[in-house]
Amino acid sequence: LTGCNTHDMSGMDAAETAPTINELPFDTPLRFPETVNGTTTLSARAATESMLKGKAGRVLGYREGVLGPTIRVSSGTDVSLRFQNNLTEKTNIHWHGLLVPAAMDGHPTQMVAAGQSFTYSFRLNQAATMAWYHPHPHEKTAKQVHQGLAGLFIVETPAEKALGLPSGAYELPLVIQDKRLDATGTPTYAPTMNDVMMGYMGETVTVNGVAGALHNVATRFYRLRIVNGSNGRLYNLALSNDSPFWLIGTDGGLLAAPESVTSLLLAPGERADLLVDFSKATVGTEVFLRSNPFGGASAQGRQGFNILRFVVNRTEAEPFRLPASLGTAPTLSAGAATQTRTFNIGVAMSGMNMGAMKGMHTINGKVYSMNRVDEQVKLGATEIWEFDNSAGDEPHPMHLHGTFFQVLSRTGGRNALTATEKGLKDTVLVMPGERVRILTQFNTPGLFVFHCHNLEHEDDGMMLNYSVS
Ligand code: C2O
Ligand code: CU
Repeated sequence: LTGCNTHDMSGMDAAETAPTINELPFDTPLRFPETVNGTTTLSARAATESMLKGKAGRVLGYREGVLGPTIRVSSGTDVSLRFQNNLTEKTNIHWHGLLVPAAMDGHPTQMVAAGQSFTYSFRLNQAATMAWYHPHPHEKTAKQVHQGLAGLFIVETPAEKALGLPSGAYELPLVIQDKRLDATGTPTYAPTMNDVMMGYMGETVTVNGVAGALHNVATRFYRLRIVNGSNGRLYNLALSNDSPFWLIGTDGGLLAAPESVTSLLLAPGERADLLVDFSKATVGTEVFLRSNPFGGASAQGRQGFNILRFVVNRTEAEPFRLPASLGTAPTLSAGAATQTRTFNIGVAMSGMNMGAMKGMHTINGKVYSMNRVDEQVKLGATEIWEFDNSAGDEPHPMHLHGTFFQVLSRTGGRNALTATEKGLKDTVLVMPGERVRILTQFNTPGLFVFHCHNLEHEDDGMMLNYSVS
């Protein structure tokens, strides 16, 4: 490697380490953020939260504690969310998975200064059921998310309501995040070289801001609405008794039919809408939602660990029957693709940026520049985008703002599409060695970003601006 004389980068891959996950007693009741509608106020602020039992850590949140409320609206609703920035630095909100006008999307150029406010207003006409929201300031996203700024955003459609899926106490919104906590239970953010390469991984896995969480369930089906809100960690979700569960929806809405799976790899930014069947379990049964080890070159997949403990503590009649069909899954109205763009993603080994130890993660060899437009797209165009990680050795969950896409193919690595890729996506995992092609259509004019959702990679520069007109 040239340009790296001040830092020895050789053997970096071999040296990569992911922190070992702490074993926890799993005896802290799971908490849920309150549910609000689309006309609430969100204020980013410092808060106190007991993520670790017995500790009061200093966090950021959009409410009293860590994280933000679960926003729940019906499709077709006019949303008007007043955002107040009570931080001491700039921030904003990106509505990840919502199709909103460019001016409302939380582009890195659309910042809300400390002490200022901004009202995000948009009408949601999409069928997506599970979005989330988080800040998007360039070079500060990773820190702000790790400190606690994120929340779920659920869009309900009449068709979905008619399915009678488990709701109320049987519907569990779950934000899964690993945190690096100090002795006071405060998330600390001080990335090293290893962290910039791997993503900032914590040793404590939290669900809705609770480490070692326990949730009592009845003998019923439960709907788990999961977002991987971690900076860099992938979870290979499974149940500790190896039972199958059902994937019913993904980033862009419900699938056409439930997909039975026994494990599901979920990368940062991706969502999974799941059904878990506890109806045949006996009282006293204990089942963990866990992450099983997974293959791949990355150090993070080597360890398996528990995430959330379920204990069946009561018998209830089960009125729900798993439907054979979930209706018509949302699809693109895409016509024939008029253009294919290929993006080389990952670490540019040209050495250009290595001396600075910053800007190593690039797209097509370029580090993000806020004011440079990298790709011009014609409004209404249907295109194929190809993400090429064939020479890379890190997983990259690639995320497009402004549109959903259909994953067309994956070659190299896993060499197949996954269950979540049967539905519309806004984030697709490209593992080392893989080349993934997506089909998408650009129906919203304006400036958007496309980036890796490993937030350390994003902040390091693995992002580009594209403009639709
Ligand atoms: Cu979830 Cu550009 O982000
Ligand atoms: Cu990446």
